[in-house]
Amino acid sequence: MQTVQIRLHPLGKEVSVAGGTSLIDVLHEFGVEFPCGGKGSCGKCKVKLLQGEIHTDPEHKRRLKELGLSQEWRLACKSQAEGDLVLEVGQFETMIQADDSLFSFEPRSGFGVAVDLGTTTLVAQLVDLSTAKVLAVETAMNPQRRWGSDLISRLESALAGNGPLLTQLIRQEIGAMLIRLVGERKISLDRIVIVGNTVMQHLFAACDIVPLSYYPFESPDLGKKLFTSAELGWSTDCERICFYPSIGSFVGSDILAGIYATGMWNRSEHTILVDLGTNGEIVAGNRDKLLCASTAAGPAFEGAKISMGMLATTGAISSVKADGDRMNCRVIGNVQATGICGSGLFDAVAVFLEKGLLGYFGEILSGDASVALTDRVGLTAGDIQEFLLAKAAIDAGITILLRKLDLGPEDISRIYIAGAFGTYIDLGSMVRLNMMNFPEERFRKLGNSALIGAKMFLFSEEDVTNTLLSLTSHVNLESEPDFQDIFIDRITLNQTSN
Ligand code: FES
Repeated sequence: MQTVQIRLHPLGKEVSVAGGTSLIDVLHEFGVEFPCGGKGSCGKCKVKLLQGEIHTDPEHKRRLKELGLSQEWRLACKSQAEGDLVLEVGQFETMIQADDSLFSFEPRSGFGVAVDLGTTTLVAQLVDLSTAKVLAVETAMNPQRRWGSDLISRLESALAGNGPLLTQLIRQEIGAMLIRLVGERKISLDRIVIVGNTVMQHLFAACDIVPLSYYPFESPDLGKKLFTSAELGWSTDCERICFYPSIGSFVGSDILAGIYATGMWNRSEHTILVDLGTNGEIVAGNRDKLLCASTAAGPAFEGAKISMGMLATTGAISSVKADGDRMNCRVIGNVQATGICGSGLFDAVAVFLEKGLLGYFGEILSGDASVALTDRVGLTAGDIQEFLLAKAAIDAGITILLRKLDLGPEDISRIYIAGAFGTYIDLGSMVRLNMMNFPEERFRKLGNSALIGAKMFLFSEEDVTNTLLSLTSHVNLESEPDFQDIFIDRITLNQTSN
C-alpha cells in the first residue's frame, strides 16, 4: 500500500500513513477533538490545506458551504489522505474549545504546558499563555504499563515494592516529553499543570499508596502537589509544576478538569459527564451540587478485558455497520484489522443484536463460541459478557447518582461523553444498546476533557479549584444498598433503565 506524508502546522509534526487513511485517525493522536462525532455539522475539526489535494464529495462541499468555510478549508472528519499533505489544524489556532463554546481566558505572559497523565497514555500540549494557542503536542504510552494495564495491577505492583521505580519512570517520561515540546524554542515555562487519576497522582508525587489499597480507601494525600523542575530531576526549567488535587480516593484531577471543561459546575441545568477511560467515571449535577462515582467499566471499553481488544490505535476496528449479510468494519489507519477497540465493540454488539444473533442476556443464539467480524477478528461469548458487565456498571452508576440527586432522566439536559473512546463511538449504537436511557440528541462528545480542563487550569486561579472541590462529593457505589440489584438488573440487552 502507498505511504503518504502529512505535515501538521502549527505543531511542526510529520507523520507517514497508508494512503486513504482518514484524517480523524491521524489527528486524534494529537489531541484534536471531533465534537459532533464526525457528522460534519460542527466545523470544529477544520483543517487548512496548505499543500496537496483533498477530494471533496458533494456532501463534504455542502457542509463546507453551510459552515461558511472558504475553499482552502476541509473538514478532517470527512477527509482522507490520498497523497502528501501540509495542513494547518484550525483547532490549535483558536482559543481553547470546551463544550460548544470557546473558553474565555485572561491572557498571561509566557508559556505553559498541560499534561494529561493517563493510566495508558500521556498527552502534553505546549500553550502560548498570551493567546491560548497550542504550539506543540507530545504523546507517549505510560511506561508503567509493563506493570499492568489497570489501576489495580499498578497498585499491586507499587505495594509489592515497585513504587519508587514507577515514580521514577513516569517522571522521566514526562521530563523527556517536555524536552521534545520545547525543542529549539528559546522559551522558559511559567507553569505546568498535570492532571490524572488518584493512583497516578500518588505514584507521580511519591505519596504513600497503601491507604488506597484497603477499605475505606481514604488517603491523606489527595490535595494539590507542587514541585519545581529541580525537585523532579527535569532539565526543562519551571518553578511552578502543579499536580491538581483529586476529588476522592478513586476520582482524580482528570475528572476535576473534565468538570471544569464542561462548565457543568457553573450551570443551573443538570448535566452528566461520563469519562470512559481506564476507570469509568460519572459526574452528575449542577452548580448547586455535583456527585461523582467511579465504576469498573473502563477496561472493557479500552479493550483490556476483550480477547482481541486493543486501544483506539492503528489496526483497531473502530466501527461496524451491517451491510446485508456482511459486516462492514472500519479500521483505524486503513490497515488490516488486528483487534477491536471500545467503539467497535459497541457497534459490533449493536449489529449482532440487530441481526438477531444475540439473546436477551447477550448469549450467542447459534451456540457458537464466537461471532466473526473479519477473518482475523471476532467476539467471543465471554467478550460480550464483559461488555454487558461494563455497560451495566455505567447504567447502574448513573441511576444511583440521579436517585441521590432526586432527579429523573427527563431532568438531564445534556450528557457529555469524554475519553478517547468518545472520538469514535457511534451514539446511535450506544442508545440502541440502552447503556444510558437518554435520547441521542442530548449526548455531546467531548474528546479528552481532562486535557481541555488542564489547559483551562493554566489560566485559572486557586479559587476556581476550591469551588469545584467544595461542590463535588464522591459516592462509593459499592456501599450503596441498591447498587448490586440495579447492576444485576442491567446485565441484559434491550433493558429499559432508570
Ligand atoms: S465537523 Fe464536527 S467533527 Fe468534523
